[in-house]
Amino acid sequence: ASSARRHLSTAQSLPPTYEKLFNKYTEVRRVLGKQRLTLAEKILYSHLHNVEESLLSNTDNGRSIRGKANLRLNPDRVNMQDASAQMALLQFMSCNLARPAIPASIHCDHLIVGYKGAEGDLEAGIQTNKEVFDFLESAARKYGMDFWPPGAGIIHQTVLENYALPGLMMLGTDSHSPNAGGLTTITIGVGGADAVEALVGAPWELKAPKILGVELTGKLNDWVSPKDVILRLAGELTVRGGTGSIIEYFGPGVDTLSLTGKSTICNMVRSLLLLSSYLAEVGATTSIFPYTESSARYLEATSRSQAVRNIETLQKFPGSGADKDAYFRFSADEGAEYDKVIRIDLSTLEPYINGPFTPDLAIPLSKFKETVKDQQWPEKLSAGLIGSCTNSSYEDMTRVESLLKQAAAAGLKPSADFYITPGSEQIRATLERDGTLETFEGAGGIVLSNACGPCIGQWKRKDGVEKGTANAILTSYNRNFRGRNDGNPDTMNFLASPEIVTAMAFAGSTTFNPMTDAIKTPDGKDFKFSAPHGLEGPSTPFESGNESLRVLSQEADASAQVAISPTSERLAFLDPFPPFPGSDLSGLRVLVKITGKCTTDTISAAGPWLKYKGHLPNISTNTLNTAINAETGEVNAAYDLDGSKHTIPDLGQLWKDRGQEWLVVAEHNYGEGSAREHAALQPRYLGARIVLVKSFARIHETNLKKQGVVPLTFENEADFDKIAAGDQVSTVGLYEMLQNGGKGTVQVKVTKDSGEEVLIPTKHAVTKDQAGFILAGSALNLLSKGL
Ligand code: F3S
Repeated sequence: ASSARRHLSTAQSLPPTYEKLFNKYTEVRRVLGKQRLTLAEKILYSHLHNVEESLLSNTDNGRSIRGKANLRLNPDRVNMQDASAQMALLQFMSCNLARPAIPASIHCDHLIVGYKGAEGDLEAGIQTNKEVFDFLESAARKYGMDFWPPGAGIIHQTVLENYALPGLMMLGTDSHSPNAGGLTTITIGVGGADAVEALVGAPWELKAPKILGVELTGKLNDWVSPKDVILRLAGELTVRGGTGSIIEYFGPGVDTLSLTGKSTICNMVRSLLLLSSYLAEVGATTSIFPYTESSARYLEATSRSQAVRNIETLQKFPGSGADKDAYFRFSADEGAEYDKVIRIDLSTLEPYINGPFTPDLAIPLSKFKETVKDQQWPEKLSAGLIGSCTNSSYEDMTRVESLLKQAAAAGLKPSADFYITPGSEQIRATLERDGTLETFEGAGGIVLSNACGPCIGQWKRKDGVEKGTANAILTSYNRNFRGRNDGNPDTMNFLASPEIVTAMAFAGSTTFNPMTDAIKTPDGKDFKFSAPHGLEGPSTPFESGNESLRVLSQEADASAQVAISPTSERLAFLDPFPPFPGSDLSGLRVLVKITGKCTTDTISAAGPWLKYKGHLPNISTNTLNTAINAETGEVNAAYDLDGSKHTIPDLGQLWKDRGQEWLVVAEHNYGEGSAREHAALQPRYLGARIVLVKSFARIHETNLKKQGVVPLTFENEADFDKIAAGDQVSTVGLYEMLQNGGKGTVQVKVTKDSGEEVLIPTKHAVTKDQAGFILAGSALNLLSKGL
């Protein structure tokens, strides 16, 4: 205790950003002693709400924490992109708070269509989505959040340039939020409901993650880039089953990478871990690099020299860990144990091309030509797209520029369409200042607006490739699921580094290997690219660009009106859900009995429906609209008590209007897939009280409880056959179980039309906190009450 006090008093003179973390870390050390910790653990545990309560929960007195302890964390900030921010803000607004408990920012990046080029595309995008942008801007003003309007940049790039800071922990409402891990910031991608919990100041819960170590040695060769590290790892992790929740990099190779290169590697962690069943169980993941000299150089270049000084001050403070001072170097304790270690020698790594349709099909460049021929993939390359949140760094762009200059000197133009997406206004303005954009445009490249564009399917192709036509494109983005970029399921989308994408765009061929092959120049000579080279960062600090593209540090303005038109089809205010009745549930009816897979996409479809993300009544008209009726085999069919046939969402709405509450019955792994909160919100909105299934995907089960729906599983799977659509249902023991904080068993009493009664035993996984959520009507109702 005395040493803790000593550290606490020493901490008084630390820069404020780090004082809190220092004190928490001292507490962590008091509880864990000299246990060796990984970097990710140090940062996570320094954000515990109550150190002892979390680290001692479910653990052997602070040993074997991973996979067991329930961490209740206080993140430092929340970042939201425009598509997911809508529902997050609507939920936040329903809490009637004046401002969020922690800083937050909103980034308008997902809704701009890439077509002819930045200026026209941006104007058109603003026009089409005006009401959404107006809503987000007005909410930011009312609640004092930072606002990055359309054109300001893509969330992850903006966050890296402005908010990421070694040692911090952030939540982001987007799967590629781990990008900030390149700058030693733990950043976890979450859904809107989780973001709101953090915004209202409630601790954010996470099962203590396992840590997968990746040891990097050596140094990348000429044609190889940081992107190839993650492309290669994607292939490897899938083979091994991806057992890690947080991926932490270490080893001497780490020091050879640029900061933005480290971020590219972190950016893609979610893409590949989404493929692992382990992730589905853990529900959160991220990736992190230690603080190195390139981190300090990046902070300086992005006008954050003070942060570098603060870190230097911090590093002079006495450490209290197993490895003295290691926390303050923002690296792991020496000898820290990882659940698994993968080793990559950067010196022997070669470029990779991954795909099509999945990021884990990793093919070394040297084998790509023969794979294309063997698989009979298209040999013509239709388009090359570089940039995005993953790969639009100064280093990426100047390396590409070096290739463009070589090709221009040989009189060559790209043979495929060539698009460039800058990640932010800052990077765009800097590239413009330094002449790089001119080189891109001179080569015939189309510079799109600083927004997601083709990466999220917002791409109007100019080459007339129709839906259903097989074709190949190459991107430096991070995902390549079928239809992801242009909505065409037959577009084979491969992932590679910006350099490889660019060189292949010149050849216009998927069988071209820029390291070995030549292209014919207009005068018939053979041209071979020399290896790309670029600059890690600009020689003078980054240009900030158009200052009107950011609204920072605004005070909350209680008098501001949030802009939602009563006639809007895309936005609607949310009413809090009513609390649980003061007794067991009775008089419920089975809306529909579902067979087969029922993913979150089945429950709340994406695609064109994304437009309605901020309008719960409108998006609810897609609820379960691809589910298969177990009794009739029909898709999206449900029957009212009088036998009349309806779509599932129509019957749900009809029953809602009638005040008839209901339940859904389904089979295994209900709610697998992405952690889409709408899949819980929509049934709840339409009147679902219970979801009774053979088994749940864990994240969805939690999401249901957060929205006040009770998830129950059959104790005996065969009982699935004892319940039918239209049956009347009441619960036995549910209210008592909720009142007892999740303790106790629940049965479901089914009454048939004939009057016959069947009692079905069920299981539940309701914790004490979750029982409180359900009783209050939703997690938000409960959390906002306590404020
Ligand atoms: Fe946007 Fe694609 Fe990144 S959708 S946030 S550019 S992954």
